[in-house]
Amino acid sequence: MKITVIGTGYVGLVTGACLADMGNNVMCLDVDEAKVAMLREGRIPIYEPGLEELVQRNVEASRLQFTNDIEASVAFGDVQFIAVGTPPGEDGSADLQYVLAAARNIGRHMANRKVIVDKSTVPVGTADNVRAAVAEVLAERGVELPFGVVSNPEFLKEGSAVKDFMGPERIIVGADSDEDVAVMRRIYGPFQRTHDRLMVMDLRSAELTKYAANAMLATRISFMNEMAGLAEALGADIEHVRRGIGADSRIGYHFLYPGAGYGGSCFPKDVQALIRTADEFGLPMRVVHAVEATNVEQKRALARKAIARFGEDLSGRTFALWGLAFKPNTDDMREAPSLEVIDELTRRGARVCAHDPVAMHEAGKLLAGNDRVTLADDMYAALEGADALIIVTEWKVFRAPDFERVKRALKTPVIFDGRNLYDPADLRDLGFDYEGIGRR
Ligand code: NAD
Ligand code: UDX
Repeated sequence: MKITVIGTGYVGLVTGACLADMGNNVMCLDVDEAKVAMLREGRIPIYEPGLEELVQRNVEASRLQFTNDIEASVAFGDVQFIAVGTPPGEDGSADLQYVLAAARNIGRHMANRKVIVDKSTVPVGTADNVRAAVAEVLAERGVELPFGVVSNPEFLKEGSAVKDFMGPERIIVGADSDEDVAVMRRIYGPFQRTHDRLMVMDLRSAELTKYAANAMLATRISFMNEMAGLAEALGADIEHVRRGIGADSRIGYHFLYPGAGYGGSCFPKDVQALIRTADEFGLPMRVVHAVEATNVEQKRALARKAIARFGEDLSGRTFALWGLAFKPNTDDMREAPSLEVIDELTRRGARVCAHDPVAMHEAGKLLAGNDRVTLADDMYAALEGADALIIVTEWKVFRAPDFERVKRALKTPVIFDGRNLYDPADLRDLGFDYEGIGRR
């Protein structure tokens, strides 16, 4: 099939490359000229395991191309996937300007029937707004052309995006015409494994499914973070509790890890957008409000531990920080807990020396304005002379460090571990003053 993907960010680029790998002809459009130029040179703007080879393979096979040319991109695909950003607006609701701009571009240039697929995460009712935007532009042009609108939210996780897209647990298709459902079945047929994972529903249910999934996962995390705080106060160990409850198949082990708070480009913004939607309808979701409030607090948990140990005034103190990306295997720092920790510590006068295995370039851009932060190319170099080590992201290389080297480099052997990577008893035996999240 001939498919256009609009937006070449984490979702659009992965979607385009994976669809091309299944034999489709894919054109990816982005309004960011620098991004398109980079992609055309074979360079990938983001860190995502497996993506570079996938893109390269499909570009070489002439199944995947990149463009800034809106008109050409609309002409190209019979199916137009919209995968642009939906960042939070000032009040927390999703900002739909990029989605609607993409829809209007389709209306402006289309000359045959198009299936317009919303892959971006969008509030309930957006499919109707997309339809209205396209219809309005067509009316301005004075032409009548048929088109369909489909909601097909994406559930990939950064760091395993290619794997997730290639082997989805479910494919949600919200549609109101059999013709459009048939097109989606054709596209996703090759991605189905042993049984049919494509679920067809109405547009609004599809849109809401995405928010419900992210809010549920975020709820589990905030619940565990609150439970961890209680465990600390009670002298219990959250790791035992986590295993104890996860063994119940009704609960399961996934997304039960307490930590430095959830970050990333999805959970924080999608939870906020859901809250706004529910508030608008006069049906405030108290649970979801609490999930958000707990997470805001949790992102301060590591800084609070440092303050409890070293005092409110941290001038003269230096902290080593391991892990800047919001989670491992990505260079994405959107809403990363590391940013909150760095902000709180440096506002109190401390210096921070940070290291991340892949997010150094991104961190260089985001932290350029903070002269109390230095970035170390090496994880051990970050430790030199620091009063404590703070671990924010659970990269594999941090799991089994050379503890003797860590101890020698630190001024005082203190570790605040926001991801519970180590056994507290082992660390005590090694001579560390060690604090995890909710550990005994
Ligand atoms: P992103 O910010 O990485 O990329 C968006 C891209 O769209 C940018 O390159 C931007 O230049 C481009 N763009 C904006 N307006 C455009 C236009 N009119 N025409 C062409 N290109 C345009 O965003 P992302 O992280 O890929 O997220 C995209 C959507 O997918 C969001 O709604 C997000 O909530 C959702 N989502 C993201 C993830 C994730 O893990 N990142 C997972 C599932 C769903
Ligand atoms: C999330 C959703 O999982 C995915 O389905 C959706 O499409 C996009 O948003 P992503 O943001 O890439 O994916 O990462 P995810 O693995 O979900 O982690 C989100 C945040 O939660 C990270 O900051 C992570 O550290 C945190 N987290 C996750 C926890 O604190 N504890 C856990 O048990 C799991």
